[in-house]
Amino acid sequence: MRHFVVGALATILLPMAAHAEGDIVAGEKAFAPCKACHAFGKNGVGPNLTGVVGRKSASEEGYNYSAAMKSSGITWDEANLHEWLKNPKAKVPGTKMIFAGYPDDKKIDDLIAYLATKK
Ligand code: HEC
Repeated sequence: MRHFVVGALATILLPMAAHAEGDIVAGEKAFAPCKACHAFGKNGVGPNLTGVVGRKSASEEGYNYSAAMKSSGITWDEANLHEWLKNPKAKVPGTKMIFAGYPDDKKIDDLIAYLATKK
């Protein structure tokens, strides 16, 4: 019997480099209310959010988007996500996402930094 020592611990250490725009740990906390409707890897009340940063709006297969979202033509880059999470109804009038929005810009940046880790 041989014991193989794998350096797995090193790979699960948290990345130490500070993120330029947002704090991922704070962003995970800011994601708490989103969990009522969103998951990573599957659709729920809201669409799957894995890989959402940089994705085209209304492009998640098997999810039944509103007509408003389908015709929105947005690419979810950081700027568009920021506007969306600040005020969903202003960004996509007629959306069926029931979320008032976060007034706090820092919180939104943290949240986007967290979303960007879900690839
Ligand atoms: C009450 C349920 C609910 C909550 C809470 C909610 N969402 Fe949503 N979300 C939805 C629904 C429903 C849609 C689809 C909207 C449409 O088709 O108009 C959506 C769409 C989205 C989209 C667009 C995805 C795509 O594929 O185009 C993003 C991004 C998103 N939500 C992020 C968030 C984040 C981040 C939060 C937390 C701050 C959040 N949502 C909170 C229900 C919710």
